[in-house]
Amino acid sequence: MGSKARCVQTFGRKRLAHQRCRVTAGRSDMVDKQKKIWLEGAQIDWDDARVHVLTHTLHYGMGAFEGIRAYLRTDGKTYIFRLKEHIDRLLDTCKLVMMKPSFSHAEISRACVETLLVNGMNEGYLRPMVYLGDGAMGVYAPDNPVRTVVMAWKWGAYLGQGSVENGVRAKISSWARHHIHVSLAKGKIMGQYTNSTLAKREAKMAGYDEAILMDVNGYVSEGSGENLFVVKKGKLYTPPLSASILAGVTRDTVLTLAREEGIAVAEEMITRDQLYLADEAFFTGTAAEMTPIREVDNRTIGEGTVGPLTKRLQARFFDVVKGSDASHPEWLTLVE
Ligand SMILES: Cc1ncc(COP(=O)(O)O)c(C=O)c1O
Repeated sequence: MGSKARCVQTFGRKRLAHQRCRVTAGRSDMVDKQKKIWLEGAQIDWDDARVHVLTHTLHYGMGAFEGIRAYLRTDGKTYIFRLKEHIDRLLDTCKLVMMKPSFSHAEISRACVETLLVNGMNEGYLRPMVYLGDGAMGVYAPDNPVRTVVMAWKWGAYLGQGSVENGVRAKISSWARHHIHVSLAKGKIMGQYTNSTLAKREAKMAGYDEAILMDVNGYVSEGSGENLFVVKKGKLYTPPLSASILAGVTRDTVLTLAREEGIAVAEEMITRDQLYLADEAFFTGTAAEMTPIREVDNRTIGEGTVGPLTKRLQARFFDVVKGSDASHPEWLTLVE
């Protein structure tokens, strides 16, 4: 039995089984231990960055987090991609959940830079988080300490090796995305990710790479951790921000680059049949970057290969994030 299968089968059992799962899997989403984690203003040893079991967010999922990538560009320097917009969204999420971190935008941004520096990382994935510490255990808990942490690790192709080059197989989930009157889709709130995890597990266990979630009205929403685009007759479509989607930074990047390339774009609702009949489709996300979708529910998308418009946008995207395209210096924060 492969490590993946063992992971699935031992999940939730005894500690020993779970530990075996951690050490055996050579999966692309496993975290590689670094030296330090920034916690409340100090760089502490990786192994000391622990939380108490009474940590409020651990129980109820209230809090904000981000995922940000830093790339080594062809000039030999490391830059964090769209750090400002990610920290803007972190603080927006804090506003949505009514939590005030003790650190400013500038301080959290600096913590991201320092976390890469102190760990000697010239590429990596940053995870800032604002969470509620222990104190009151009821859901109200207005006075529990609000803690801020920034960690970093190396993260390859999120949807698996070769996914960016060859595309992935996706499954429409039986789980709907949160209704906009039930949750706050524009917030990157920990607790909301139970929905993503359920959808992802369902898709993976059915043999697919990723889930696509519909909203409660049956319109295409997004992946479990990515926004979604389709191409039809040379035009690019993605659901609007008023849909139940996260306002992805990568989504915005791709829309901006597409407009610059003279590609027609439309932010409008997409139906399931429009998705099946797309000429091309792809996911966007900080972790997934630009990952083509070659199949949905066993229906081949286009030719089942990476389509020409996706290829063109991918080339521009990767040149902007880690190549030599310097057309958007405002998106790059030098790590120094
Ligand atoms: C649910 C969801 N949608 C979309 C995205 C893509 O957002 P971004 O491009 O800002 O990473 C993410 C990742 O953060 C996500 O978790």
